[in-house]
Amino acid sequence: MNTETVISKFQRYVINNYSRYPIVFVKGKGCWLWDIEGKKYLDFTTGIAVTNLGHSHPAVVKAIGEQSRRLIHVSNLFYVEPQVELAEILVKHSFADKVFFCNSGAEANESAIKLARRWGRVNGGRYKIVSALGSFHGRTLGALSATGQKRYHEGFKPLVGGFKFVPYGKLEPLGKALEDDKVCAVILEPIQGENGVIIPPEDYLPGVRELCTKRGVLLILDEVQVGLGRTGRLFAYEHYGIEPDVMTLAKALGGGIPAGAVLAREEVAIHLTPGSHGSTLGGNPLAMFSGCAVLRTILGDGLIDNAARMGEYLLERLKTLGRKHKELVKDVRGKGLILGIEFRSKEVAKEITRRCMEKGLLVILTQDKVIRLLPPLIVSREEVDYAVGKIQESFGEVC
Ligand SMILES: Cc1ncc(COP(=O)(O)O)c(C=O)c1O
Repeated sequence: MNTETVISKFQRYVINNYSRYPIVFVKGKGCWLWDIEGKKYLDFTTGIAVTNLGHSHPAVVKAIGEQSRRLIHVSNLFYVEPQVELAEILVKHSFADKVFFCNSGAEANESAIKLARRWGRVNGGRYKIVSALGSFHGRTLGALSATGQKRYHEGFKPLVGGFKFVPYGKLEPLGKALEDDKVCAVILEPIQGENGVIIPPEDYLPGVRELCTKRGVLLILDEVQVGLGRTGRLFAYEHYGIEPDVMTLAKALGGGIPAGAVLAREEVAIHLTPGSHGSTLGGNPLAMFSGCAVLRTILGDGLIDNAARMGEYLLERLKTLGRKHKELVKDVRGKGLILGIEFRSKEVAKEITRRCMEKGLLVILTQDKVIRLLPPLIVSREEVDYAVGKIQESFGEVC
């Protein structure tokens, strides 16, 4: 098939709920992708923070191959060996005592919301959850109800009740919201990725932690996008010297095989009792063994340090570019390998995105005005230079 045939078959057979770029990828290796016409692209989207090790990383390919020959699926009616291996790695490298596995970010947040409610029920009959405006927690009805962006709610009401929203990055309104003694949890992203790479002030998360502790409320951190090395630490909360009570992961966890997880402290985790929650495919041997390879590679190959170093270098280069093009660029920000270039106009942001893609650099346009860059954690200095060169060329053409 060629691009045209694939697109016309999509229009005939696939529900049209995404607006897609007219590119069909057929091959990936490291930081690079090839389309069906043979054109090569540098992938700074990583399938939206999924392929953190790059495409077809040998450790992931090996794990999937070995495990698929051994055992692809058994249900959670039985004990699953790779599931406990991955849980052990996650527990040993985080605040958590226990892990529940599922298949996606939305499902992980859905599960965390249910867990918080079960915990709240026996801790004062509390059920309300405070979330942030601008947040993104997923598309299932519970996760969507926790998402603080009206445009995603359109046409899906009534949503799940019991969610309250406060401005992101501000402690005072959160403190006020927590005066309600029916609140059982706060759910937040350490960085709002989908909202345009919004990085809160340094004292925000420590302040949130303090408020939650004071009010006896659970702190749920959604690290679906920023977890697993992306910010230059294994988990973003490590930057702030705090620990959550519950954390959700997905995206990069399975190395491209769907996997999600809820990590929790023991006294919270005990509230998901047998039969209270579940997922047929969650924790399945293939995804879990792939996840073990992902974690071992991130931890063992110095990828977290690389993310910090390359992130700093890319940020510096983009800031220099932004300063040169103040008429186009409003702000450049980032932490590790999640970065955003905020433009002054939607039209320019769209045009730069289009030109980057045309030149062979894949970036994500988010919230209409922000180009989000999510390079793989294996990215090299030469690849960063290549990307900056393409962005620079695109700026030059649009000016
Ligand atoms: C912070 C955050 N939480 C949850 C989700 C939803 O994850 P999924 O698409 O795997 O359901 C996303 C997806 O972009 C996300 O960025």
